[in-house]
Amino acid sequence: MNTKSLISITDFTKEEYLKIMRLAEDFEANPNQKLLQGKVIATLFFEPSTRTRLSFETAINRLGGKIIGFSDSSSSSVSKGETLHDTIKMVSNYADMIIMRHPLEGSARYASEVSSVPVINAGDGANQHPSQTLLDMYSIIKTQGRLDNINLFLVGDLKYGRTVHSLLMAMLQFENPIFNFIAPPELAMPNEYKIYLTSQGIRYFEHTEFTDIINAADIIYMTRVQKERFIDPVEYEKVKNVYILRNEMLKNTKENMRILHPLPRINEIHTDVDNNPKAYYFTQAKNGVYTRMAIIAHLLNLK
Ligand code: CP
Repeated sequence: MNTKSLISITDFTKEEYLKIMRLAEDFEANPNQKLLQGKVIATLFFEPSTRTRLSFETAINRLGGKIIGFSDSSSSSVSKGETLHDTIKMVSNYADMIIMRHPLEGSARYASEVSSVPVINAGDGANQHPSQTLLDMYSIIKTQGRLDNINLFLVGDLKYGRTVHSLLMAMLQFENPIFNFIAPPELAMPNEYKIYLTSQGIRYFEHTEFTDIINAADIIYMTRVQKERFIDPVEYEKVKNVYILRNEMLKNTKENMRILHPLPRINEIHTDVDNNPKAYYFTQAKNGVYTRMAIIAHLLNLK
């Protein structure tokens, strides 16, 4: 189909990342721009969401568009056995764009091949979450003033956490990234990403603890252990509280270091961190509205 979709973060070039950053800044300064008047956007969420769905829907409302869709597929004909193929065919007859979250890896790419309108992947299983990455990058550039030379600590579930996979691939486009992967062996960064980094000559370091090394970080990116991806609940119980970031651990960290988390958090950031000026995760989620306005405007050629 001759439409531009955002399925993997690598579907966008570095120039497009930078354009999204500029547009997001513009939308943050002026959030009510009625560029979507007369357009209908479908939000199809086959998995639960708070931030992604509501920030996309806020973005659409601020742009003056209309929203159709579902937040629970049991209220759609999927519950009667309708296939993803037929659902997407139908919805692309109704809407100018589809934003979809689905538990199956590859489902968003498949939807984009079936759809006659652009598709945004709002998360497909443990694979990718590219709009999250763009808001993460916007949060990094806002707080660090750059995307080059970032020492990034990725902490927690690096196996199933789709946000870290997308973020890693995006940051590779910038100068001199340093990746520190902090995970227990069961949740380590998948080999395919590490092999790719090595092939590109990019430095990465793996650790199972981070208390003693945290002071080198520009960004600490905490992640939730993805309970819903575990086949065996006993295995989840073993690792669910593997890392808990506490306020006392932050006292010698860089002044300008910021803590990001795609949220929701469970226990991995203690609430005593929330009032530390280095805690940025709630503002990060707010940045999602402006970034998603920018992504929609870019894909529909509205800006
Ligand atoms: N960050 C994120 O994807 O949050 P939700 O699951 O609430 O959408």
